[in-house]
Amino acid sequence: MRKPIIAGNWKMNNTASEGVALVNAIKDNVKNACCDVVVCVPAIDIPAVAEVIKGTNIELGAQNVHFAAKGAYTGEISAEMLKEYGVKYVIIGHSERRQYFGETDETVNKRTLAALEAGLIPIVCIGESLEERETGKTETVLDRQIETGLKGIDDISKVVIAYEPIWAIGTGKTATSEQANETIAYIRKKCGETFCPKCAEKVRIQYGGSMNAGNCKALMAMPEIDGGLIGGASLKPVDFAAIVNFDK
Ligand code: PGA
Repeated sequence: MRKPIIAGNWKMNNTASEGVALVNAIKDNVKNACCDVVVCVPAIDIPAVAEVIKGTNIELGAQNVHFAAKGAYTGEISAEMLKEYGVKYVIIGHSERRQYFGETDETVNKRTLAALEAGLIPIVCIGESLEERETGKTETVLDRQIETGLKGIDDISKVVIAYEPIWAIGTGKTATSEQANETIAYIRKKCGETFCPKCAEKVRIQYGGSMNAGNCKALMAMPEIDGGLIGGASLKPVDFAAIVNFDK
């Protein structure tokens, strides 16, 4: 049995005080969740959010991590720096990082290995663009992202994978539950072939891309979908709590 995981990706939203207010607004409403509940917050919000989630079932995530342990990497943040504040999860390779900040499958791989080595749980994002889907390249793109981005991982079940079709992110255009389920099943099969079939059965694969309070039940009812990476809707307390409570 894979425990579902719902993670909010705040992106570059919420100052520390706004973040504290958001967590205070959701914490009582998510306390009976059947799933893991995570908020992935801007790095500078981490200390304040770490304080306010104490004693709750909400866990802390970051939105990136550098691959080196320390050194001359101006502007970067290491796994140890995150861990000191109790960060447990870290998003790696989000399509916005790939699109705007030069992230490649190779750098995704380095960050993922460093996160695992430090004991963080990477949430590795993969997914195709609209053009790639329309020209029948979805599987080729996912194969490359899995083979290169996740290369050298001994136990793939220690990673969370977020399948985020780029065309569905922030566009209000969700993949249908069937489309998401089918693609996630493909990702699981590919993980089985690339790593080990047993670990592939255990790896949690989220859907991400315009998931919201209205469509979360149908998506979460699909057998292959183990959770969601939630952007826009994670900034709205009522909506995020509704998604976390998808089973109620
Ligand atoms: P969205 O973002 O829910 O706003 O589409 C999802 C994501 O980018 O992780």
